[in-house]
Amino acid sequence: MRRREGFDKLSPNHFVVFCLGLSGCAGKQNILPSAGAHTDAFNTLFLVFLIVCGVMYALVIGFLALAILRGRREGGDDQVRPVFKAWVGLITIGLIGLAFASWLTDRAMASYAAQPNPVRIRLTANQWWWSVEYFGSYPGETVRTANELHLPVGRPVHIELASNDVIHSFWIPNLAGKQDLIPGRRTDIALLPRRTGQFRGQCAEFCGAQHAHMALDVMVEPEAQFLNWWRSQLKPAPAPRTRLEQAGANYIVSRECSVCHAITGTPINARVGPDLTHVASRKSIAAGTLPMNRGNLYAWIADPQGVKPGSRMPYIGLEPRELDAVVAYLETLK
Ligand code: CUA
Repeated sequence: MRRREGFDKLSPNHFVVFCLGLSGCAGKQNILPSAGAHTDAFNTLFLVFLIVCGVMYALVIGFLALAILRGRREGGDDQVRPVFKAWVGLITIGLIGLAFASWLTDRAMASYAAQPNPVRIRLTANQWWWSVEYFGSYPGETVRTANELHLPVGRPVHIELASNDVIHSFWIPNLAGKQDLIPGRRTDIALLPRRTGQFRGQCAEFCGAQHAHMALDVMVEPEAQFLNWWRSQLKPAPAPRTRLEQAGANYIVSRECSVCHAITGTPINARVGPDLTHVASRKSIAAGTLPMNRGNLYAWIADPQGVKPGSRMPYIGLEPRELDAVVAYLETLK
């Protein structure tokens, strides 16, 4: 009776807490709904496996129950032999069918990647953020951003994957499977988005203290909107208009920020940290750690180690006036 005591203690409150946990699976965090050709193909394959294996399992359990009910009989072996042969045949056909379905899925996935006119991107993983480069037809069209992917719906995307430090793993569950980013090696992955929307990418290999805070905001958009975004990202940073913004720009260009960051249109061009040219146009700060807004910019710059302990963004100790100016300028970088 002692065993049941644990269950007796369960109240409706426990059920509510359990359901609250499940609620984390909703919204853009939900990994189940497919939005890409690769995940469509994979979900179909999963369904085939589920049905075939489910039928096999039901048969095994059914025959087992029958055998237990009937018990052993005289001359039983002669009756068993034909059933045994039929069973071996069924398993063989089932396994060949599953292997063939896997092969077809693999071919289909390869054909998506081979479609013409792909978007070419290089994604470099860092502890703990993503450096993103888009390549156009010529070098002047290269766009640099961070922690955010814009993808056109219906066009294949080829992503080259690299890492600057440890092994990370690229994963946008709604679009495709996972692929590792390995220091000193180039890997790649292809995507073919089929539905517009906002999705979340997440590093899927433990890579240090802030592994969980290594997210990617993914926007799948109509082609025209995507090209607009690309054009806007190609522009240099706007010139500061107010005195406060000018003071912020002066600080960033001449002080600690300039050692790590780049802003096109200004003299700073370092690649240690994220490119800031259009930082205010992004959805989040510090790889999905905080939503992008004025308050969070203050919090992040004033105390990066409080927001994301262990990250490479150091505590600088700006005076309140300097902080006001830097945030005012960063907010103009749309
Ligand atoms: Cu990067 Cu986990």
